[in-house]
Amino acid sequence: MIQMYHAEKRYEGNVYALRDISLTIERGEFVFLTGSSGAGKTTLLRMLFGADKPSTGQIIVAGRNITKMTASSVPELRRQIGVIFQDFKLLPDRSVVDNVAITLEIAGVSRREIRARAWNMLRRLGLGHRLDHRPKALSGGEQQRVAIARALVNDPPLLLADEPTGNLDPDLALDIMDIIADAHARGTTVIVATHDPSLLDRYPHRRLVLDQGRLVTDRAPETYPTAIGRAALPLP
Ligand SMILES: Nc1ncnc2c1ncn2[C@@H]1O[C@H](COP(=O)(O)OP(=O)(O)OP(=O)(O)O)[C@@H](O)[C@H]1O
Ligand SMILES: [Mg+2]
Repeated sequence: MIQMYHAEKRYEGNVYALRDISLTIERGEFVFLTGSSGAGKTTLLRMLFGADKPSTGQIIVAGRNITKMTASSVPELRRQIGVIFQDFKLLPDRSVVDNVAITLEIAGVSRREIRARAWNMLRRLGLGHRLDHRPKALSGGEQQRVAIARALVNDPPLLLADEPTGNLDPDLALDIMDIIADAHARGTTVIVATHDPSLLDRYPHRRLVLDQGRLVTDRAPETYPTAIGRAALPLP
């Protein structure tokens, strides 16, 4: 799904946000992207959906070379990617349901189906009573759930989630992780950027750790023996 070859992002004043990143993420993987504030997590995600190009190196997403992509092919790439932005990026002049509907409008889904699917998704996220409100009338955590609904309503092949539980209390954070896990179980490749240790410790997923723009750790998913596997182990 994703290949990066020696990708770097350098901003003016010789600030390196990413340095020499090479990695592969297979279709269907669930990956945590972690590292302290300023490590480059958001920068990396932005490049994966074509919001930014690397200064050097190559990035391939869903078979497309981001480095060489023309502006006209960006929408086609984005139709395949659900994005939960760190700052939500909800449209202030659209209602909650219309913020979610936009993903389906872009995908060319019929009007009747759009409302039904947007409602369902929002109800699932506990926002059934907020459909016609504007985003600014919602709490931070509620806005975050609208952003999550918008990213997932179209069952995207790839989900990029930037601190998707950052503003949520622990119970709600786990609900959101369940919803992301559901999408993963249905086949979505998932990348979650987070520096929340309680989230990281809870799930066994592969972990990419950035430090000052460098990929310092790529830890394989932890494999726990299943109940059957344990039973099959020889007794000491
Ligand atoms: N447009 C920009 N111009 C200059 N420097 C930038 C720009 N965007 C990001 N940076 C720098 O790149 C580095 C990585 O930023 P990034 O937002 O990717 O970090 P992050 O890991 O997402 O941090 P956080 O956990 O706080 O969200 C930071 O040092 C940041 O200041
Ligand atoms: Mg960030």
